[in-house]
Amino acid sequence: MMKVLITGGAGFIGSHLADQLLAAGHRVAVIDNYQTGRRDNLEPHPHLQVFEGTIADKAFVDQVFTEFAPDKVVHAAAAYKDPDNWEEDARTNVLGTIYVTQAAKRMDVSRLIYFQTALCYGLKPSEQPITLTHPISAAGSSYAISKTAGEHYIELSGLDFVSFRLANAYGPRNLSGPLPTFFHRLTTGKPCFVMNTRRDFIYIDDLVEVVLKALAGTGQKGYYHISSGSDYSIKELFDETVKALEITLEKEVEVRERNPDDVFTILIDPSKTQADFNWKNSTPLSFGVKAAIEWYKVHGITQTFTHLRMEEKVRT
Ligand SMILES: NC(=O)c1ccc[n+]([C@@H]2O[C@H](COP(=O)([O-])OP(=O)(O)OC[C@H]3O[C@@H](n4cnc5c(N)ncnc54)[C@H](O)[C@@H]3O)[C@@H](O)[C@H]2O)c1
Repeated sequence: MMKVLITGGAGFIGSHLADQLLAAGHRVAVIDNYQTGRRDNLEPHPHLQVFEGTIADKAFVDQVFTEFAPDKVVHAAAAYKDPDNWEEDARTNVLGTIYVTQAAKRMDVSRLIYFQTALCYGLKPSEQPITLTHPISAAGSSYAISKTAGEHYIELSGLDFVSFRLANAYGPRNLSGPLPTFFHRLTTGKPCFVMNTRRDFIYIDDLVEVVLKALAGTGQKGYYHISSGSDYSIKELFDETVKALEITLEKEVEVRERNPDDVFTILIDPSKTQADFNWKNSTPLSFGVKAAIEWYKVHGITQTFTHLRMEEKVRT
């Protein structure tokens, strides 16, 4: 039995992880301030403790660590919903990460897991697929700058850590990226278009499988990718959404040419993860999209979130 503290545990990735850990008999504590997470993502469970508050409050973080005394930490909390709110990004993603890391050190946590954005490789990566040796270049957004500073502090701490740099994760409870936007627009009769770009998508269950292995001790200290290693066109994602909704559109969706500064494809190389974790992405896009759509239908989407500015958002 492990005691795992999940920051951002009411969010998309954190809550799936909490579910799986609880089902396997572990004890879980969650810290969340519900900025982008949802209360209904976590069902009450005798082995689940939820602490409502911000990781940017040092005294609060220290108190939760002392009370719960975790063996391992999954640091999934992050601020990103307002690209112009640099203070909040810095408060949560830099200061909050420092407080979580320092508390983890104080409590002798044996492993800390972090999730990093592939935006750390810059808006125009110089190779496809992007490998772990690609230079870091986070200057493109406040989210990437602050998440990268957080990643550096974790390395600086000397803790045993695994930082997973992620492709676009999708599935039930996912409220950012193109899929919830397509669902929302298609079910409220709004027009849609897609950009002529390709991106790497990873289904939540495949992602969580790797994280559970890392919590169990697999993998070396350092950096890994979690990605499918395949790129899908945004139109494929749209078409799968239409199929999963069982609707027929009067005409094919409009495919818009990308802006000159928009990257045609982003592919992330998962080979080190496949080798070290004996893992392979296995969920077909059609299955994953259907599962996400089923969840949106039952739970509804009141808000979607993006770290992109409006003008960038329409290009995704
Ligand atoms: N989903 C992806 O495709 C993706 C890709 C790259 C990296 N990530 C990283 O993965 C992690 C989880 O992302 P997600 O997709 O589950 O997003 P999410 O928004 O669903 O989860 C983040 C959670 O953190 C909480 N939170 C925000 N600020 C907080 C604060 N100051 N204190 C406590 N809780 C706070 C939010 O309420 C939310 O529940 C994040 O660190 C994110 O940067 C996600």
